[in-house]
Amino acid sequence: MQKITAAITAVGGYVPDYILTNQELETIVDTTDEWITSRTGIKERHILKGEGLGSSDMAVEAIRELLKKRPDVKPEDIDLVICATTTPDFQFPATSNVISDKAGLVNAFGYDINAACSGFLFALTTGAQFIANGTYKKVIVVGVDKMSSILNYQDRTTCIIFGDGGGAVLLEPDTEGYGILDSVLKSDGAGRAHLHQKAGGSVKPASLETVMNKEHYVYQEGQTVFKFAVKNMADVAAQIMERNKLVADDIQWLVPHQANLRIIAATYERMGLPIEKVMVNIQKYGNTTNGTLPLCLWDYEKQLKKGDNIVLAAFGGGFTWGATYIKWAYDGAKYSLK
Ligand code: UT7
Repeated sequence: MQKITAAITAVGGYVPDYILTNQELETIVDTTDEWITSRTGIKERHILKGEGLGSSDMAVEAIRELLKKRPDVKPEDIDLVICATTTPDFQFPATSNVISDKAGLVNAFGYDINAACSGFLFALTTGAQFIANGTYKKVIVVGVDKMSSILNYQDRTTCIIFGDGGGAVLLEPDTEGYGILDSVLKSDGAGRAHLHQKAGGSVKPASLETVMNKEHYVYQEGQTVFKFAVKNMADVAAQIMERNKLVADDIQWLVPHQANLRIIAATYERMGLPIEKVMVNIQKYGNTTNGTLPLCLWDYEKQLKKGDNIVLAAFGGGFTWGATYIKWAYDGAKYSLK
């Protein structure tokens, strides 16, 4: 029997119109463009404004774009939607259900995955299993976050880092060896102490007190997270290369989580890759958590060629981290609308 792999066959993305620049942040908190640029690489980020808009609304825009690229695929053909998000529309139901409803994916079932910044990789790997085992033919994996909904714009250590946005990919079966070929995924729950949201869950439900104490915002011990991110993202990227007998020359692209330019540098240097092979868009979007990896694929789609060896790598709250090896399935220039 022919081996089935799950190939990414289309990409869509979305960032909201409003651009929050470092210069505007200088007027909100005690910071400078120079500090933000030199410590993180970020120049601006997009923010979703407007009453009643959430992560699902950005995901729907990304999916609409994806389907526009593939007019042969109808919304009713989609079997499953997996949404990776840390900022769901609601505590329940799952954001994937809201997305399917708004995008007219009437035959799709769905669920969310929460693995913080590694969520897209975890969701991609999970979605790929349904294709590889022959259960489904069309799976959409979304990575999206409205980080502005959980940021304290009085805390200069966190509000400068994150932005809103996300992307979606379509997974379909392939029998020629293209698609998602391997993943190394890791978690260490002890890391939760250093990056989390203190209230709003079952341990500490929302109350007047938790709101007054600003406990619904991102809490991050930046330096500690930085140290773990640098080591673990580079380790796992090296591990997936070794396991698949890949050397630097075999790899066309590294797609790293966009948390900090210095963490990205540690990863590509460890892999022995030149910067030209690294997707970087942190300067314009900041850290969109689950959105970073699909937004990279979206931005660079035009440059991707059938047969390219691509390594995706991520690190995030939990802690969670991982790397995925993909053999790209199509010439991106053919579909890219950008
Ligand atoms: O995606 C999920 C995973 N998250 C990450 O990977 C984030 C990892 N961490 C980081 O990227 C970095 O730690 C940060 C960008 C968050 C911070 O950079 P840093 O180089 O680790 O700075 P720091 O926390 O060590 O702070 C250095 C100084 C401090 O001042 P003192 O104590 O030296 O006087 C901070 O108070 O910079 C100060 N500082 C700022 N100054 C201007 C902190 N934030 C700012 C700011 N503007 N926005």
